[in-house]
Amino acid sequence: MNELRFDGKVAIVTGAGGGLGKAYAKLLAARGAKVLVNDLGGDTTGQGADAGYAAAVAAEIRAAGGVAEADSRSVADSRSAQAIVDHAMDLWGDVDILVNNAGIVRSTGTLDQVSDYDYRTDMSVSADGSFYLMRSLWRHMWDKNYGRIVNVCSSSLFGLGSAVPYPAAKGAVLGITRGIAAATTVQKRDVRVNIIMPIAASRMTEQFGPEIQGIMAREFPPEAVAPVVAMLAHESCPCNGEIFSVGGGGYRRIFLGATPGYQRNDPHLTPEEALAHFDDAMRLDGFAIPANGMAEAAMYHSSVPWDAFVQSMR
Ligand code: NAI
Repeated sequence: MNELRFDGKVAIVTGAGGGLGKAYAKLLAARGAKVLVNDLGGDTTGQGADAGYAAAVAAEIRAAGGVAEADSRSVADSRSAQAIVDHAMDLWGDVDILVNNAGIVRSTGTLDQVSDYDYRTDMSVSADGSFYLMRSLWRHMWDKNYGRIVNVCSSSLFGLGSAVPYPAAKGAVLGITRGIAAATTVQKRDVRVNIIMPIAASRMTEQFGPEIQGIMAREFPPEAVAPVVAMLAHESCPCNGEIFSVGGGGYRRIFLGATPGYQRNDPHLTPEEALAHFDDAMRLDGFAIPANGMAEAAMYHSSVPWDAFVQSMR
């Protein structure tokens, strides 16, 4: 198989001053991309700033013969996110690839212990930052009919305790991604936005303790996630709106599915009937993976022309 190359392509990788983002930036640059290495350089809870993070990774890429520049702005502010995009445009006149990797984990403990500040801070990086950057690039990618966006969620979306702002932020990324992918698929734009849920040793996983961190570093290095990011960032990316768990040398599809469920011939469902047909609602046989919200609505027997609304997605 031909090597997947990125010659002539411009990539922005956020949160690339360490951990997983660094691995993504290095692989894209090694394969020919010009990379804007963005990183605020704060700690894992979103406190502080250090321009040295992004600068060190950009210098490492250049020392290895690649093309990279550093950007130490925060993704979590609308104007600053726009300035990151402007920075890449000023340097190289284009942006083809965006990897929305910057993330923090601020909230811990139980739901009642999560302050308003913790909640807003967690939401501000993954959710707000991904939104701001994609909004800044939207018209550019739409008009030139090309773009590859890789967004970052987390298996915490399956449930990981009641300190929920972190998965809430990743859930927002899921909703944003699906909306954009539905629009670009329906309108046949070559702009693809997909999601990874990585598993890798980083300073974020130090919370598991040194023993587990050692095993993680051996079995789940960040470099094992980067190849799937590169595939999704490449022009041959075969999908749009998909979600992949990635780590340890493997990856798998994660999906939003819908069972055939149960439906009466009229709308007069009662609570008792709902309970009696619980197993029908839950049964997986014949499940579907709706391409968009209208496709799920269309799984009900009805005379609403759901398909007619699909073209309005843009
Ligand atoms: P990390 O803490 O090493 O990397 C995150 C980077 O984002 C840091 O370098 C940080 O300085 C940067 N950052 C934070 N706030 C920023 C802001 N406002 N603007 C720009 N940069 C900012 O952690 P890791 O593990 O490499 O995480 C990367 C992404 O992967 C995050 O989105 C994280 O939520 C996600 N993730 C990681 C998992 C893992 O197993 N390590 C599991 C699931 C998701």
